[in-house]
Amino acid sequence: MPLTKIREYGHEQVIINQSKESGLASIIAIHDTTLGPALGGCRMFPYASDEEALVDALRLSRGMTYKAAAAGLNLGGGKAVIVGDPKKDKSEALFRSFGRSVESLGGRYITAEDVGTDVNDMEYIFMETASVTGVDASHGGSGDPSPFTALGVLQGMRAACEAVFDGDGLTGRRVAVQGLGHVGFHLIKMLVEEGSKVIACDIDPEKVRLAKAENPEIEVVDDKKIFDVDMDIFAPCAMGSAINDDTINRLKAKVICGAANNQLDRDELGAELAGKKVLYAPDYLVNAGGLINVSVELEGYSRERALRLTRNIYYNTLKILRLARKEGIPTNLAADRLAEERINSVARMRSAFTAFHRVRGSEHKPFSR
Ligand SMILES: NC(=O)c1ccc[n+]([C@@H]2O[C@H](COP(=O)([O-])OP(=O)(O)OC[C@H]3O[C@@H](n4cnc5c(N)ncnc54)[C@H](O)[C@@H]3O)[C@@H](O)[C@H]2O)c1
Repeated sequence: MPLTKIREYGHEQVIINQSKESGLASIIAIHDTTLGPALGGCRMFPYASDEEALVDALRLSRGMTYKAAAAGLNLGGGKAVIVGDPKKDKSEALFRSFGRSVESLGGRYITAEDVGTDVNDMEYIFMETASVTGVDASHGGSGDPSPFTALGVLQGMRAACEAVFDGDGLTGRRVAVQGLGHVGFHLIKMLVEEGSKVIACDIDPEKVRLAKAENPEIEVVDDKKIFDVDMDIFAPCAMGSAINDDTINRLKAKVICGAANNQLDRDELGAELAGKKVLYAPDYLVNAGGLINVSVELEGYSRERALRLTRNIYYNTLKILRLARKEGIPTNLAADRLAEERINSVARMRSAFTAFHRVRGSEHKPFSR
């Protein structure tokens, strides 16, 4: 039942768009706009059912609320899904039609690239609305966010290594990387430069070939074996739920830090990892580099500013690890707590300053009746 689901996830607004002319079938989910407009990518995927598409939009948009809040951005959480096969169903009309739906929200939702969409699709959306980020640099955009996401993950790993290996850096560490797509490709390059020993896999042989050609020193393993290799750090950079009831008992890593969203199959696995003395760097905390990069686009893009803000993920991760240690709670809950506290404190601050005006019935002219 869609309304029950929407209430369960706590969303402000969910919009369904349908266009006979362009073939568009999409859902825009706005989770929370306390901190600012809801920013989140547009995913295109051939969902098996409407329910699956809705739940994905609800889950991902709620994750964006936490990601933006924990990263210290003045943005809320949103996400869109387009139901369709990105290999067959893309067209100018479809993305322009989606752009018009976004425009109709008057800036409450800002879209961006995600799985199944790219910079070319953003160009079509940009023809209909300014509420889009990740457009090409020629339009003042920031382009591909993946190198920033990879840099943020690297900063998270540095902080985690400092906590676990007594200040030792990444040099000589064995890092198992699952997924050699946009983020994984950049991440392994950075790790090789740091002097780490990279063990990697992908289900797509072409991705493996490209990664190996660029970094001959990496060791490639079968995707089914990645959880069993000898490793210090596990970096999930493929799909969600890499940490589940099966893999948690196979992994030999002391640190888990990667780009994938929703790495824990269920929240309780955070506590189980802590019990096993495995440091889990919360996914949305360390993979915020791409979001940080597109957020800078909203202020007038500066690569230097985006790099500086992304490097702050190192300090942000240390802060969460300290909080988790001090409170004796799993790191995923520490990150949630920090994000929720920020949202609540901004909401309280706003309500304190507007209470008087609300009583008078007008925010801008409190004394006119
Ligand atoms: N691109 C970004 O800036 C960004 C930002 C935040 C989070 N993320 C998340 O990080 C992850 C990677 O993003 P991406 O942009 O690199 O995606 P991508 O689609 O480019 O790459 C994912 C790769 O994982 C591989 N893969 C899928 N299942 C696998 C498996 N079972 N074992 C091994 N490899 C597998 C795919 O073949 C693909 O090469 C995704 O979960 C995404 O949601 C990405």
